[in-house]
Amino acid sequence: MKKNIFLMLSVFIFLSIPGLCRAAEKEPHPEITLMDYEGNEISLDCNIPYSPKNTCGECHDYDAITNAYHFQQGRTGENIGKS
Ligand code: HEC
Repeated sequence: MKKNIFLMLSVFIFLSIPGLCRAAEKEPHPEITLMDYEGNEISLDCNIPYSPKNTCGECHDYDAITNAYHFQQGRTGENIGKS
């Protein structure tokens, strides 16, 4: 019985390898331009904070992400669930 479990586990791991390799070959994230709070382009050298809303929101749904369940974990007060 123990031998069977070991064999099944080995087969499972062996069959998973191509999938794991494909995941590692995924395209890298596209290059992005950092933006500040006012929507101005900023460089990596400056000390102005970047704005995730203006930087990432260009391509990603900022409101959907920031209102997601885990993003809101620990939030208190009457504005729970509102951005
Ligand atoms: C120029 C457009 C663009 C901008 C700006 C952008 N992204 Fe992305 N991002 C993409 C694309 C395209 C993908 C791949 C989409 C997919 O896999 O469905 C992606 C995927 C991701 C992923 C998932 C990566 C993965 O391996 O599945 C994360 C996390 C992410 N972006 C975070 C960010 C963050 C944080 C920012 C801001 C700092 C940002 N992105 C800004 C285009 C952008």
